[in-house]
Amino acid sequence: MGTADVSDVQQLLDEALNLKADPQSAADIGAGLKLGLVFLNPSLRTRLSTEMAAKNLGMDVQVLNMSSDAWAMEFEEGAIMNADKAEHIKEAAGVIGRYFDIIGLRSFPGLKDRDADDEERIFKAFEKYTAKPMLSLESATRHPLQSLADLITIAEHSKKKRPKIALTWAPHVKALPQAVPHSFAEWMLAACHELHIVHPPGLELDPSFTDGAIITHNQEEALEDADFIYVKNWSMREPYGKAYEGGADWLLTEDKLKQAPEAKIMHCLPVRRNVELSDELLDSPRSLVLDQAENRLWSATAVLRRMIIELHEKQGRTVGA
Ligand code: CP
Repeated sequence: MGTADVSDVQQLLDEALNLKADPQSAADIGAGLKLGLVFLNPSLRTRLSTEMAAKNLGMDVQVLNMSSDAWAMEFEEGAIMNADKAEHIKEAAGVIGRYFDIIGLRSFPGLKDRDADDEERIFKAFEKYTAKPMLSLESATRHPLQSLADLITIAEHSKKKRPKIALTWAPHVKALPQAVPHSFAEWMLAACHELHIVHPPGLELDPSFTDGAIITHNQEEALEDADFIYVKNWSMREPYGKAYEGGADWLLTEDKLKQAPEAKIMHCLPVRRNVELSDELLDSPRSLVLDQAENRLWSATAVLRRMIIELHEKQGRTVGA
């Protein structure tokens, strides 16, 4: 789900804030519905918060950690399955679709084939063969539940209607996807916030997500007077999926925030301490990382509530708004 799938981002944000203020307002709306949460990759926050949100809405939930607990899956059409892959996506997703009303899927990009990742081939294959409404738990290109949680967190902490937000690249030991920064940019711009994106040359993001942001290689300039600083690593898009070599001096420290005295620090977690973000910032009152993680519950609740209402409407049942 991108912002294009949400007709009014502000309205969804308001719904999430209202649900947080009055969690009972949607209790049991999902009674009788089954949610399957399928993880092809590891997770702490997404798994716990989405399961909790669904239960709070009255849904039955089951989680499948597919990479460790299910059969190795084949995706190729026409494959002769005489090697290590025991089950084809057609049967695996087809079966999952028979068990659940809504299916959440985490499917990271492979970071090898840019077209395959950009086209969301894995997510779309699940969508096709489950033939059920799908909830993104972070796909190859986006992490919408994280971005909505980030928007909730900014709304709760902002003293301004249009805060200055800086998304700053951070070093890391591995090549990470671009889904979080892409999604973050898309959602912040849809909310009409002032977004600055700063990274070393060569780490350009896909302009289709960042159009409208101020993009620079000067970290000092981007951080100046920022109200919120979002710290995130991502790998290169050209050559695709390559980890940036160097950049250790991009680690965010208190010393770099002399010109941003009000800045709050954000990160989606998990975070590598003293590689991406310093202990002094993560342990300081500037840090909002736990608030963001807590708000994952309310972003999941708001989005699942909408999906449940759509399902009820399709079945000709009316539910309370
Ligand atoms: N931020 C986030 O999605 O965390 P997990 O990978 O632990 O779910």
